[in-house]
Amino acid sequence: MSAKTESWGTRVGLILAMAGNAVGLGNFLRFPVQAVNNGGGAFIIPYIICFLVMGVPLLWIEWASGRYGGKFGHHSTPFILDKMDKRKFWKYVGVFGIFTNVAVAAYYCYIESWTISYVFHSLTGTFNGMTQGEVSGFYDKYLDVRSSTTGIPYEAVVFYVVCLILNTYILSRGLHGVEKAAKIGVPLLLVFGGFLGIRSLTMGSSMATAEFPDANSIAGLNFLWKPAFDSLANPTVWLNAAGQIFFTLSVGMGTIHCYAAYVKSKDDIALNAMSAGWMNEFVEVVLGSLIVIPLAAGFFGVDWLKENAGFGMAFRTMPYMFEQWGGVLSALAGMMWFGLLFFAGITSSLAMGTPWMGFMRDEFGYSRNKGAMSFGLIVLLMGLPTVLIYNFATNGTVNSFVFNEYDYWAGTVSLVVFALAETILFVWVFGLTKGWKEINDGGDIRVPDFYKPIIKWITPLLLLAVFIGSLITPEGNDWVNAFQNGWVLDNGSIIKTIANAGLKEQIATATDPAEISRLENQLLYTNAARVLLVLLFAGISLTVYRAYAKRIKEGRA
Ligand code: ALA
Repeated sequence: MSAKTESWGTRVGLILAMAGNAVGLGNFLRFPVQAVNNGGGAFIIPYIICFLVMGVPLLWIEWASGRYGGKFGHHSTPFILDKMDKRKFWKYVGVFGIFTNVAVAAYYCYIESWTISYVFHSLTGTFNGMTQGEVSGFYDKYLDVRSSTTGIPYEAVVFYVVCLILNTYILSRGLHGVEKAAKIGVPLLLVFGGFLGIRSLTMGSSMATAEFPDANSIAGLNFLWKPAFDSLANPTVWLNAAGQIFFTLSVGMGTIHCYAAYVKSKDDIALNAMSAGWMNEFVEVVLGSLIVIPLAAGFFGVDWLKENAGFGMAFRTMPYMFEQWGGVLSALAGMMWFGLLFFAGITSSLAMGTPWMGFMRDEFGYSRNKGAMSFGLIVLLMGLPTVLIYNFATNGTVNSFVFNEYDYWAGTVSLVVFALAETILFVWVFGLTKGWKEINDGGDIRVPDFYKPIIKWITPLLLLAVFIGSLITPEGNDWVNAFQNGWVLDNGSIIKTIANAGLKEQIATATDPAEISRLENQLLYTNAARVLLVLLFAGISLTVYRAYAKRIKEGRA
């Protein structure tokens, strides 16, 4: 079947695939940690506002741009964006829409592979009778390259490769495969999530012990949902809320454009975009907040939760908690939780594969097999360094330098940069009059008119604010002080991060030779990861250049 004629089988399939694209590890692993680290209830209001004035408009913009490009046979952002304006550089801006996906897939599939392994270990009873410390130690050992004499964490590598093979296989089945995976994965994750959510709600303080007398799952929920209005004045909470909205909705990535490019030209997008987007929010805000936080609070109390909330919490603590439920329920809960994460992950990583495949098919006539295999191979090459450079220092620091660099540059900064660029293109270059028509064409709902000024002004201005705010974050995130007493950049600002300022300062002040060597290694790997990212971006740009030259030669430009 040619790329031009491939399209979604059913509307339900499309919505589930788009929802599966959005619903991911971010909903269950990233959201709870962001919420706890940003003060619980303090996070929710900026989060919801960011969803309504940035997330929703970007969904419409990306669905509309994608379907528009699809009418001309384009299924990835370089030539979708190219079609929206005469100027030639937009196709290179569109490179972000392939680059981000490959780079994010490299580390995202790694986490996805842990979930496969944890399903396996839950079912085979590995965690039976383990203490909390032992469960946590299992996680360290699984990931730590030093746990093997050769420096290769064999089990982690095997599951990573298995995960990539699974992704590649489903991708090689084309849209049909993606649709089928979503039709199975999304309902199952809702059932698993619903079960665990109800269990955590009904747990209350029943698991309190002498060591953790304040343990109470409802206190965890209360911590998350009690709004703290003073957070509205804290730009850092806003930046984090915006970052979460980008990641969770998969906006600014290029996946939505690609999926929407396969929507038939007269089919609805206005309502479909909302169905998928709101489904994601339901899963994130309702299910995502009903599991990890209340469960951890139900076993250890809110104070413990505030101190220990972190990315690995779901792997370090959940198997232990499930064990306390005893019997078959332990294995079942483990299978459900890690199975849920797996389905959430794979329906997102599949979406990350489609822009590359669409591009290579449109421009170089790649078959589905060839497209899927080449994607799997590039992800493997980019991803192995994340697997092989991962260990835990004795002071508790996680040394996952390549992983972190990918997450920062591709999974955070790129999303904002691309979202800003595409919004400017859509609203100010392509033009909102045409854009509004594109959004509403064939729509089963009419987008309310008050969204016009939001899309035209508020969305781009907020995006700009988020970008500038991240670029020049003031020292200590103290914005009031910076405005009053002069601007000193924080080491976490993009500008200082580029210069590795924080790391260099730490090296200069460290005295312990072991710590100095660890930091120097970090600097080396951080820079190496950046070189890989730059090479990836340059490689894709070159491929776009070649595709364009080919189009000119064939009279198709
Ligand atoms: N949107 C996907 C997630 O939340 C990438 O994990």
